[in-house]
Amino acid sequence: MKATKAQEFPGEWPHEFAWLKRLVTNRSIYTQRRTWQRRSETWDADNDSGMNKVAAKAAEVAAVRPGMQCVDLGCGSGRIALMLARRGARVIGVDVSQLMVERMETQARHEGIETVSGMVVAIEHLTLPRGTLDLVVTNYALHHLLDDEKERLVKAAFGWLRPGGQLVVADMMLGRGTAARDRKIIASKVRIMAKKGLPGYWRIMKNAGRLLLRVHERPITPDAWSRLFEKAGFSKIEVIPVVAEAAIVKGTKLAT
Ligand SMILES: C[S@@+](CC[C@H](N)C(=O)[O-])C[C@H]1O[C@@H](n2cnc3c(N)ncnc32)[C@H](O)[C@@H]1O
Repeated sequence: MKATKAQEFPGEWPHEFAWLKRLVTNRSIYTQRRTWQRRSETWDADNDSGMNKVAAKAAEVAAVRPGMQCVDLGCGSGRIALMLARRGARVIGVDVSQLMVERMETQARHEGIETVSGMVVAIEHLTLPRGTLDLVVTNYALHHLLDDEKERLVKAAFGWLRPGGQLVVADMMLGRGTAARDRKIIASKVRIMAKKGLPGYWRIMKNAGRLLLRVHERPITPDAWSRLFEKAGFSKIEVIPVVAEAAIVKGTKLAT
């Protein structure tokens, strides 16, 4: 059964609370920047195989061709941005953490790649010229955004794309446990973490708190993402499951 919009996607804030929304958004951006500046040194060493698999799949479904103009949102140290650039695309990596962007640019220089550049800006504040991109892609970053920022972003991406352009969102995609798929994912994560003993139990508590309170991590379901794509005007919307918690939602901006 499909989850209802009210359960999975709270929607826009009432107009009279716009100031509060700005405050919450800015607080969220501040927290993300602080967290990821701190994690930038160890991020590459973590080399999460699940995340690599999701990124590789996202690059595959994006069907990149040489010369395509792409943006990678929440690029981190360039996992997807560099993958696309190695296939001949021109890529702008956007991230709120300057240290992450610097790591991506250093790696690009190291490989002699000249078609990757970085922008240090929060996705929530990103503006780009309309109709200039072939691909907007993102891996494991958008679950950090507040829900109405996700909606605003999908609409904005539709505007930045040329006709024929694609939005490819790869991310952890789950709700708060109301659907059977969510419960299955949560149970399998709990089992993996519990095997790690005391540190595992600590992570279970921390992650459960984050998921329930939607602090720091605010994933939504593949269905909720698809609805956002549809509302923004995307066509040929596809959901591609990858690993347990992660999926890819892809949509195309058709020529009008
Ligand atoms: C889990 S990491 C994923 C990084 C990269 N996409 C990858 O596949 O390795 C999340 C990234 O999103 C960035 N991020 C989080 N919130 C952001 C925001 N509001 N605006 C821009 N970047 C953000 C973080 O700085 C971090 O680099």
